[in-house]
Amino acid sequence: MKVLFIGDVVGSPGRNVIKEYLHKLKGKYRPDITIVNGENAAGGKGLTDKIYHELKHAGADVITLGNHAWDKKEIFDFIDNVNDVVRPANFPKGTPGAGYIIKNVGNKKIAVINGQGRTFLPPIDCPFRVIEEIVSEVKKITPYIFLDFHAEATSEKLAIGWYFDGVVSAVVGTHTHVQTADERILPKGTAYITDVGMTGPYDGILGMDKDIIINRFLTSLPAKFEVSKGREQCNGVFISLNSKTGLAESIQRISINEDRPFFD
Ligand code: FE2
Repeated sequence: MKVLFIGDVVGSPGRNVIKEYLHKLKGKYRPDITIVNGENAAGGKGLTDKIYHELKHAGADVITLGNHAWDKKEIFDFIDNVNDVVRPANFPKGTPGAGYIIKNVGNKKIAVINGQGRTFLPPIDCPFRVIEEIVSEVKKITPYIFLDFHAEATSEKLAIGWYFDGVVSAVVGTHTHVQTADERILPKGTAYITDVGMTGPYDGILGMDKDIIINRFLTSLPAKFEVSKGREQCNGVFISLNSKTGLAESIQRISINEDRPFFD
């Protein structure tokens, strides 16, 4: 089982990158499943029906979300009608949407779980316990379990990685938008990276216009953030999983930008 995961797609620049590079990356890596974090895909916050279809059309099999899941209200109109959008599983019970899905890939199945951290983010249910409950259920169905853990704190992401080492196939961190260089296979076989990084503007600050953010730091005055323009980047990981155990055989970072061009 080969998994291509693309980190947080930010606004129209992120969608442009997805349209330009996703088919090239799929040609290069030949993944069985392509998962895209789309929680910032609509104007930097949230996901709309139109953009859901854009990402799907560009080649995303599953779209994961995070703390901006509900920022575009129209998501409530479609999230319960689709089977390939996953919002954090540890949102309170009764929240629309699903916290995990099981996707058919040929004659195999893979579970895709989205979790969200609680450190420096709004209070929600315990990700460790909620994900553990889900894992105990999906283990009965498939050994392939992919977790996008959307969190701010490096420590919380590492703790989730270690807690689920040997239990899930992969733990990839999202949300902080800067790719970390700590990709590895943990001792019991789980692929891990603290943050996959973002896809979209290359010269902004976490995808937003840098001048607005700098001014916010300088003045502490409230400001409306805007998605940055100009050069673009694409960040992701490619993970291979063992067909018997479901555990990881390799994890490779993908980082494409003007300083690190794409080669097929
Ligand atoms: Fe986020």
